[in-house]
Amino acid sequence: MQKTAIVPGSFDPVTLGHIDIINRAAVIFDKVIVSVLNNQHKNPLFSVDERIELLQLSLQKQTNVEIDAFDGLLIDYVNRKEADVIIKGLRAVSDFEYELQMASINRKLDDKVETFFMMTNPKFSYLSSSIVKELSRHGATTSDLVSAPVEKALQKKFITES
Ligand code: PNS
Repeated sequence: MQKTAIVPGSFDPVTLGHIDIINRAAVIFDKVIVSVLNNQHKNPLFSVDERIELLQLSLQKQTNVEIDAFDGLLIDYVNRKEADVIIKGLRAVSDFEYELQMASINRKLDDKVETFFMMTNPKFSYLSSSIVKELSRHGATTSDLVSAPVEKALQKKFITES
């Protein structure tokens, strides 16, 4: 039976840590749907369309990886997509408490959907989209933290902002 996993996130913007998780998930699952949360209330730097485009430019073409967007509850989206698993990356113990809460509420909403946790590659354990934005805002290099198209898009945002 074909197994589909959803990798949800804000991806504002996608980092090399996200890409590592997505690529590893694509080896294990038949289909991986990377889905961008349309979270207007979080005041994202990039629009959903920009975040999708940066994911497309950052991920090497893989026939079993699809990029999409969602709003509302993740569990409803997972069911609409008829997916089996939610994948979350864990960087450190500090991520665990929040992710346990999310996995538990999603399990309460639908216990047929499993949440799988994947440990982030240790070389990206300190990495987050927020840190990347902060570095780029102050002119520091982000070339070893994000793909080249994302670094370029960040620089463009902050040049037009200043
Ligand atoms: O990259 P992020 O911001 O850590 O991703 C968080 C995300 C998108 C996975 C999470 O915010 C989410 O699932 N949001 C959808 C709303 C939802 O289902 N919340 C859980 C029940 S309250």
